[in-house]
Amino acid sequence: MESIIVSGGTKEQRYQALIPQIEALCAGENDIIANMANICAALREVFDFFWIGFYIVRKSDTHPDGERLVLGPFQGPVACTSIAYGRGVCGTAWKERRVIIVPDVDKFPGHIACSSLSRSEIVVPVINNENVTAVLDLDSKELASFDEVDSKYLQQILTFLNQQ
Ligand code: SME
Repeated sequence: MESIIVSGGTKEQRYQALIPQIEALCAGENDIIANMANICAALREVFDFFWIGFYIVRKSDTHPDGERLVLGPFQGPVACTSIAYGRGVCGTAWKERRVIIVPDVDKFPGHIACSSLSRSEIVVPVINNENVTAVLDLDSKELASFDEVDSKYLQQILTFLNQQ
């Protein structure tokens, strides 16, 4: 297994260098958990984000909606394991089926603080056959770390998950 090689450049250039490497990592692997795990590790190697991880939509007997988000593969400190539909940034991205960029988590009503060190966040839904099957969540210790560049390239990266 080759290591991820991306050096210098703007954020956009770093994504552009990273993307074919992630595509190659995921090619030929149909297990979504394995691909989620390597996507987190690859993003971690290139960007200095505080937390990078997936929450996966799972059936739940204990949640009124019958489903919840459950912590999946991630890189970073321990995090909340369960998020309800429509709750927090992750549950809102799931409900609204759209990318949510939060420049300042203190200004997002209902933000779930897994760590008080997190200051800004982006959540990108993973969509398969028009259903949200998971979300990718990135947290930063700096304010306003995420923008449309992250949104564009993270959505592209999620197409490599090879969902069944
Ligand atoms: N902040 C997220 C919860 C997940 S952690 O950041 C890892 C939210 O509000 O949904």
